[in-house]
Amino acid sequence: YSQKGYQTPATYDAVVQLEYLDMVVNETLRLFPIAGRIQRVCKKDVEIKGLFIPKGVVVIIPTHVLHWDPKYWPEPKEFRPERFSKNNKDNIDPYLYLPFGVGPRNCIGMRFALISIKLAIVKILQNFSFKPCKETQVSKISNMLIHLFSNLFYWSNNVFGTISVL
Ligand code: HEM
Repeated sequence: YSQKGYQTPATYDAVVQLEYLDMVVNETLRLFPIAGRIQRVCKKDVEIKGLFIPKGVVVIIPTHVLHWDPKYWPEPKEFRPERFSKNNKDNIDPYLYLPFGVGPRNCIGMRFALISIKLAIVKILQNFSFKPCKETQVSKISNMLIHLFSNLFYWSNNVFGTISVL
């Protein structure tokens, strides 16, 4: 399909309204956290649930492991943006989803990073379409991505107030 004409300005206000895009970005950062772990230096001797942690020890928090733990994320290797839908996202424990860390030393650039990622995706989708070619190895994941990009195009055009052709 032609995407000519889908050039509604991607303003901040429009981009922050893209709910499905937000779900997709969140789920992508769950599956593939850019910072796979965070760390803290223990400031004083402490015992947590029977585990003694002496002052000065570096504690590693394995973001990637927590994001893939089937105890908290059913079918953790599946790409399911719905985990972050309006209805579900309030049930997510902030200590189990840590793409930007947590607490007073979490990522200072989180909002800037998220809006930049979303803006980049919107601009790509406004200018390109994605289709498998001869060489594409159609795996579950590539199928999912193609489906996803079509969906995103549909959603972003709805939000930007243009007519969807999908
Ligand atoms: C997708 C992009 C990004 C990811 C996934 C990311 C992730 C993180 C993580 C996991 C931390 C450690 C948080 C913690 O220990 O609790 C961190 C810290 C930090 N990030 Fe980011 N970040 C991103 C983009 C950015 C951007 C764009 C900036 C600046 C414009 C930035 C600036 C910082 C700074 C300054 C810290 C240190 C904060 C502190 O120690 O108080 N980050 N980031």
